[in-house]
Amino acid sequence: MKIIETIQELQTIIKEVKKNESAVGFVPTMGFLHEGHLSLVEQAQKECDFVVMSIFVNPLQFGPNEDFDRYPRNFERDSQLAKNAGVDLLFYPNVTEMYPKEPAMKVIVHEGVDVLCGKSRPGHFDGVATVVLKLFNMVTPDRAYFGMKDAQQVAVIEKLIRDFNLQMTLVGCPTLREEDGLAKSSRNVNLTENERQVAPSIYKSLQLAEELIINGERQAEIIKDKLIKYLEQNRSGNIDYIELLSYPELKHQKQLEGKVIIAIAQQYSKARLIDNIVIDIK
Ligand code: PAJ
Repeated sequence: MKIIETIQELQTIIKEVKKNESAVGFVPTMGFLHEGHLSLVEQAQKECDFVVMSIFVNPLQFGPNEDFDRYPRNFERDSQLAKNAGVDLLFYPNVTEMYPKEPAMKVIVHEGVDVLCGKSRPGHFDGVATVVLKLFNMVTPDRAYFGMKDAQQVAVIEKLIRDFNLQMTLVGCPTLREEDGLAKSSRNVNLTENERQVAPSIYKSLQLAEELIINGERQAEIIKDKLIKYLEQNRSGNIDYIELLSYPELKHQKQLEGKVIIAIAQQYSKARLIDNIVIDIK
């Protein structure tokens, strides 16, 4: 596995790889890798000849009071995991390499960001879309792999590819979980021992919603109220949002029908966790 820190070197290698008409797969990450990230690599390996992973904690997508400084980092460990997973090229730029000057422009996301994380983290998806567009232009992948754990991010990147006519395919991959159901996340290490014990209630409440829907409940408000009660009883972190929306449109529905996302964000003392499930209501 090659480790590359500059854009120029990255582009030279990609050019060589593309001469052989190899399909390039791309897995962008912010590092502190876990099995969720590695499952994206596994999927990319199945479908592509050459797998690029990036590790870059992107300051542009963190708000002023968010956890940019606290975001966990461990490059030694990450590079070992990436190598073992079969990544061919690991791109590890620093902030100056990615943003040598104050950027003169950025991508503004207008649609689908008035809900979920877009609502509670203003500007977050502008930062995500901007860095992802830059990375896509550098790597020019045929396929890019994203986790459905960040379903709103997947919806935003789909529109980025469509609106800027990028010649590539986005692949949305399932959420990997711990044995107790907690979605794997780099931020889980910032939970206290107690918080870690109660955090699986996020997924349990999503399962409760699924059960309610399977049993015929279609009123979004009723389901939402039950989930709030459940989470409060289980004394988990503070609820940032619980939303039931159409997917991928991300529109509110009083009566649920079609493809629906149920998404939760919870704020713990030093970590904000998100999770979701998508259900197809027939
Ligand atoms: P990061 O949070 O490191 O996530 C990188 C990729 O891993 C994302 O596509 C995310 O959805 C996926 N992922 C995270 N946890 C997962 C899990 N439990 N199961 C499956 N996939 C999982 O998302 C970002 O970084 C950044 O916003 C980025 C796209 C790199 C732009 O900076």
